[in-house]
Amino acid sequence: MPQAIETMLLEERRYPPPEPFAAQANAQPDIYERDPDEFWETEGRGRVSWFQSFDRLYEWEPPYARWYLGGKLNVCFNCVDRHVEAGRGDKVAFLWEGEPAGEREEITFGDLLERVVRFANGLKSVGVKKGTPVGIYMGMVPELPVAMLACARLGAPHTVVFGGFSAESLSDRLNDMGCEVLITQDEGWRRGARVPLKRNADEALAASPGVRHSVVLRRTGGDVAMAEGRDIWWHDLVGRVQGSGPETCPCEPMDAEDLLYLLYTSGTTAKPKGIVHTTAGYLVGVATTHHYIFDIKPDSVYWCAADIGWVTGHSYIVYGPLCNGTTGVIYEGTPDYPDKDRWWEIIERYKVDVLYTAPTAIRAHMKWGPEYAQKHDLSSLRLLGSVGEPINPEAWMWYREHIGAGKTPVVDTWWQTETGMILITPLPGVTTLKPGSATRPFPGIDAAVLNEAGEEVGPGGGGYLVLRRPWPAMLRGIYNAPERYVETYWSKYGDAYFAGDGARIDEDGDYWLLGRVDDVMNVSGHRISTIEVESALVDHPKVAESAVCGRSDPQTGQAIVAYVTLKGSDPGSVEMMEELRAHVGRKIGAIAKPANVVFTPELPKTRSGKIMRRLLRDVAEHRPLGDTTTLADPTVVEELETRANTEQTEE
Ligand code: WT7
Repeated sequence: MPQAIETMLLEERRYPPPEPFAAQANAQPDIYERDPDEFWETEGRGRVSWFQSFDRLYEWEPPYARWYLGGKLNVCFNCVDRHVEAGRGDKVAFLWEGEPAGEREEITFGDLLERVVRFANGLKSVGVKKGTPVGIYMGMVPELPVAMLACARLGAPHTVVFGGFSAESLSDRLNDMGCEVLITQDEGWRRGARVPLKRNADEALAASPGVRHSVVLRRTGGDVAMAEGRDIWWHDLVGRVQGSGPETCPCEPMDAEDLLYLLYTSGTTAKPKGIVHTTAGYLVGVATTHHYIFDIKPDSVYWCAADIGWVTGHSYIVYGPLCNGTTGVIYEGTPDYPDKDRWWEIIERYKVDVLYTAPTAIRAHMKWGPEYAQKHDLSSLRLLGSVGEPINPEAWMWYREHIGAGKTPVVDTWWQTETGMILITPLPGVTTLKPGSATRPFPGIDAAVLNEAGEEVGPGGGGYLVLRRPWPAMLRGIYNAPERYVETYWSKYGDAYFAGDGARIDEDGDYWLLGRVDDVMNVSGHRISTIEVESALVDHPKVAESAVCGRSDPQTGQAIVAYVTLKGSDPGSVEMMEELRAHVGRKIGAIAKPANVVFTPELPKTRSGKIMRRLLRDVAEHRPLGDTTTLADPTVVEELETRANTEQTEE
């Protein structure tokens, strides 16, 4: 049987867990021996508090699963109240740092409870109750988790729309979910500039007639229009319901399978998919993975540097960490404001011990150089994490060397908006790490790599990554689109979830993610993954970042085009192109040598930092560009088109 994807890049560096880390780790080697049902049963009973315990672990009628059946609980109670009730009200829940200099807040679990209760009562006063869909469009302010938790407390499902999205994206989502209330803010701060959230929201609401009220947080104090009868200031809303004495607001007992939130993710068509996440399985899944993978201790200061508007922020800034009673950092702005050492300054200030970020951010720091990190004491860090894209081995090494002092484990975690929780990952005290490998399925997770015929690909072979058993935090469908759910995830194999990613499993059983299968290139009949060629390029000392794609070629079917950003502000040259082609030839083989190299100061990325290879293909084939609405910076691809049209082509 031919391999679905060939893999050629060899990585031989190995990093077993340091002995002292292994000895104290939350996850010990025997965790892999546990029976999946026993594992999730035990975690389900032990990790969350139930108003009424569940009586069945799960029910599986492909493609739908239900977990912890019969259980009643409230996510907000688990994330906030129970920690206060247990006497930990003075423990810090969030260390918040605004982008403008000196703006800081320390929010204890007690403070969080007070703020959530007051805001939940405010929401009630505008008619929000169990089942009312609420939209949230905010920046990284403490009130964003407060708003999410207040919704969860009332049993009102939310959809958070990332603050970088346009008015149109916002109204599409509000309309699809049928939101009745929108929570937003006047403006946000980003790299010293104001993001006009309320103005965008006004434009969105003009096209979202179902939204009766918008609640507006004053963040920057900028001038905004308030629509009479529709818009209410956050402070007026909570002031209005505030009486004398401590306020209360009961936590709504929710069924295990009640809707917690929708999070929209883009697909191949323009219409975003509302990914459905429910209550109990999601909470157990994110809290369990957070505990073991990030080795969280009672005194941890944990920082997930993602935006709460993405699933990473939902699962690993808000719900997982708070359920575990963890102290977390929230930073409002960009890593290069006012200078490129802002992150390292934050880590030093709060003595962060666990940092979780994305390869795109790591590569940005690589490009800026290690001197920014060297200015700060990062010795509090004991564990680093990565998510969002395959991480190139060189970026992994840089992260460990320059941020982790050459000794912290680096956990490369694979998952998706749809999976809700991390599924393939090292466990930092157990796993021998390999730069670029997400290593193994988490305990209780059944993954496999299959070929077109649905057979398991043997060691070393590339194929399609699937999940064969349901897991607690898995999506429960696409909102209002059951056929699309079946078609997108279940049509390839029927009873296995197909994630859309390619992977290979090596001789040790470790997984190597190969990127989206739509991006796989076919050169003279060899199916080559983009990540391997990119990693070979990034391995060159002068390369900061690269993206490759295939363009059609009359001889070979497809030819590889590489877009490369060099370190510093090196513009590149014909000699450099030759050097890079030779380098890829040495690392992988002649078949993977790019036909063209286009040097560029920036690569086109989505707002969440993923490289948009589809657009690179359009540029390489001189086609009109497809949908560019999800691009973070549309000028990058215009610039690329100009460069691509003047590039040197290798014969
Ligand atoms: C897609 C999901 C998961 C939270 C953030 C992204 C890619 C994610 C990895 C990783 C290789 C990864 C996959 C996946 N991806 N993590 N560690 N190694 N690829 O969520 O926007 O739903 O994207 O991101 O292609 O399918 P998302």
